[in-house]
Amino acid sequence: MKVNFGIIGFGFMGHIHEKMFDSMEDIKVVAICDIDEEKMSDAITEGVIKTTSVDELLEIKEINTVVISISNHVHKEAVIKAAKAGKNIICEKPAAMSVAEYDEMIAAVKDAGVLFTVHQQRRFDEDFRTAKEVYDQKALGKVFTIQSMLYGINGNMHDWHVFKKYGGGMLYDWGVHLIDQMLYMVDSPIKTIYADLRNVINEEVDDYFKILFRFENGITGEVELGTYFLADKPKWFERHWFIGGDTGSMYCDGFEPEGKIARTTRLLTNVPGKTTMTASGPTRSFGPPPEGLLVTEELPKVDVAHIMFFENYLKALEGKEELLVKIPEVRRVLAVMEAVRESAATGRSIDFE
Ligand SMILES: NC(=O)c1ccc[n+]([C@@H]2O[C@H](COP(=O)([O-])OP(=O)(O)OC[C@H]3O[C@@H](n4cnc5c(N)ncnc54)[C@H](O)[C@@H]3O)[C@@H](O)[C@H]2O)c1
Repeated sequence: MKVNFGIIGFGFMGHIHEKMFDSMEDIKVVAICDIDEEKMSDAITEGVIKTTSVDELLEIKEINTVVISISNHVHKEAVIKAAKAGKNIICEKPAAMSVAEYDEMIAAVKDAGVLFTVHQQRRFDEDFRTAKEVYDQKALGKVFTIQSMLYGINGNMHDWHVFKKYGGGMLYDWGVHLIDQMLYMVDSPIKTIYADLRNVINEEVDDYFKILFRFENGITGEVELGTYFLADKPKWFERHWFIGGDTGSMYCDGFEPEGKIARTTRLLTNVPGKTTMTASGPTRSFGPPPEGLLVTEELPKVDVAHIMFFENYLKALEGKEELLVKIPEVRRVLAVMEAVRESAATGRSIDFE
């Protein structure tokens, strides 16, 4: 079955979507739309209809699904219009600027009875899935901490992302993915959220955040992102995962993950300390473990790619699978982002669920 798509917003992400659909047998891009005509000049789809009017695109009967990839502040308007036009919708993240906006959008989606999901495709990132696989295998005993970090080391933020009114800032950007990954991994209610959110160099929008989740199951989740961690390193970003449990731990670095699992051969509750000399003096607690107490293992291999997001969407359209990114899950991420802003503004932790 070939499904006809329309792409609304043909900038950075619109182009990526077109390229992805070009590689998929079951999707045909019928039309694209951008208010800036020039942006559509390098479209690769033969015979594609180009328009600068969203309404005109929505009038095209044969379009089954629209992908909305315009800046964040106009998602609501476009989603409501598309729903009223009877189109199924894949909206870019963040779905909305607030939970209140999102609720209005979902009311329109439900009224129209169309399918709706949000492109939170980083559930299919290899580094995340590797960490999740280790977590799911319950290989580390009782997990007490999960850390997910992303640092940019060149201070790079661009275009509308540096302006508040367009929905700029890193919380609305990578924040959505990092929060979504954490919540998708840890299947537990959140008791409290504590956060720091800063504009380190940007006047209007955040470019640093740290979020601490206290989950009901005893895990503390930590998400930290900064775009201004200036450093002279071989890569222009750093991505880290760490999971700590009472019988083992895992570190996993990079988008093509490298790391190890370290496990105890028995519980390390009271291991006699071996005095070790460091440049800062002697230590026993932070010296090497006794021989044979730790075994290391390779990280599991996972086979994932972003195309799986759309493969799932097509199956959901045929009623063969549930949508992976569900309406309430998207709402929960938006609600977390609001709690993050509240905690950062008040300096207090926020009771959540
Ligand atoms: N899922 C992801 O990994 C990911 C990655 C990057 C961006 N995004 C999201 O994609 C969306 C677009 O981001 P981008 O980086 O591609 O921005 P962009 O500025 O490169 O592209 C947006 C395009 O939309 C057009 N546009 C704006 N308002 C419009 C309107 N009302 N009607 C038609 N066209 C309009 C602009 O002219 C521009 O070409 C944002 O919501 C962003 O958060 C998602």
